[in-house]
Amino acid sequence: MKILVTGGAGFIGANFVHTLLDEHEDVDVTVLDKFTYAGNRGSLTDVPEDQVSRLTIVEGDVADRDLVDDLVGETDAIVHFAAESHNDNSLNDPFPFVQTNLVGTCTLLEAARRHATRFHHISTDEVYGDLELDDPAKFTPETPYNPSSPYSSSKAGSDLMVRAWVRSFGVEATISNCSNNYGPYQHIEKFIPRMITNRLRGVRPRLYGDGLNVRDWIHVRDHNTAVWEILMNGRIGETYLIGADGETNNREVVAVLNELMGYPADDFDHVTDRPGHDLRYAIDNTKLREELGWEPHFTDFRSGLADTIEWYTNHEAWWAPLKEQVEAKYAAEGH
Ligand code: NAD
Ligand code: DAU
Repeated sequence: MKILVTGGAGFIGANFVHTLLDEHEDVDVTVLDKFTYAGNRGSLTDVPEDQVSRLTIVEGDVADRDLVDDLVGETDAIVHFAAESHNDNSLNDPFPFVQTNLVGTCTLLEAARRHATRFHHISTDEVYGDLELDDPAKFTPETPYNPSSPYSSSKAGSDLMVRAWVRSFGVEATISNCSNNYGPYQHIEKFIPRMITNRLRGVRPRLYGDGLNVRDWIHVRDHNTAVWEILMNGRIGETYLIGADGETNNREVVAVLNELMGYPADDFDHVTDRPGHDLRYAIDNTKLREELGWEPHFTDFRSGLADTIEWYTNHEAWWAPLKEQVEAKYAAEGH
């Protein structure tokens, strides 16, 4: 089987590529990645020698129609991770989000239509907006879309296009909306790796606002086992929500991280809040569990975080070249 993985040099995509090569010997992988600031060649150069012949890396844009058409024509399935993915960036400049997340997804859908290629669209729980902190409700596949940021609204638009291409053109597509991922190869602009690498540089963690915002943390490998299950056995046209019952507020995340790294739990600073900052995300994963029999394996957040701290500690060469620029950008935003 030949799988085209868009955004395969990014955080979740690179982890997916490693899992495919490690665990599915009958799969050949082509990565299509533009290598934006978020794509990292170092996330794919550590592929073992005996797997290299099954991996092709193409540098290019998902909005490049000719390139996409050629690649899709040679593939059995597309798993579409490529996106502009960071909320803070989308508040500063939404245009790359519209271009990649909407035009890029449209380009891929059109190629999937022409070549009758199976398409799995990776999306986010942020399309549903947010929940109150004291609300027992969780997001379900029936929750109405209500995105808050330019990022999440562009992802919502891309989801709706996928649904339209299924209905109007019979494209064989599925969608998954996942909660916040953590684990190896995550860009250090994101919360957990930023806090870990700050600590490794002697800087106190920085919480936006009061730090009580809740995210539903899932280990990236659990996200990817769910994606594989949906790609293989999901029903065409369906949306599956992926989450592992990991609701934790930002203060609690930093407290665990501090303890694991040898600091007092409350050793952090408060900084300017994110405009429009979503309060709480929470996933009801019943459909995924009951229909596809998926179960998460990394259910102990403390031990998953300990492994992640160890990864960043041992892979300074992977993130150190990015650190100064990322922090300069945050300093300009008051974060
Ligand atoms: P990331 O920013 O780490 O990686 C994105 C990758 O896409 C990078 O390698 C980048 O170079 C590539 N890319 C960007 N624009 C491109 C273009 N025009 N053409 C080709 N490649 C391009 O993102 P991530 O955190 O790995 O997220 C991957 C996907 O998962 C996204 O669609 C995101 O919306 C979704 N998602 C992320 C999370 C999370 O917690 N990180 C949770 C749910 C869903
Ligand atoms: O829910 C899924 C989404 O999770 C994905 O769709 C996005 O691609 C991914 O980036 C993530 O979005 P968030 O905005 O939730 O992630 P981020 O890592 O930016 O922030 C997580 C929380 O931590 C959020 O409440 C903001 C807060 N934060 C973040 C940073 C970078 C801080 O308090 N301090 C920080 O320095």
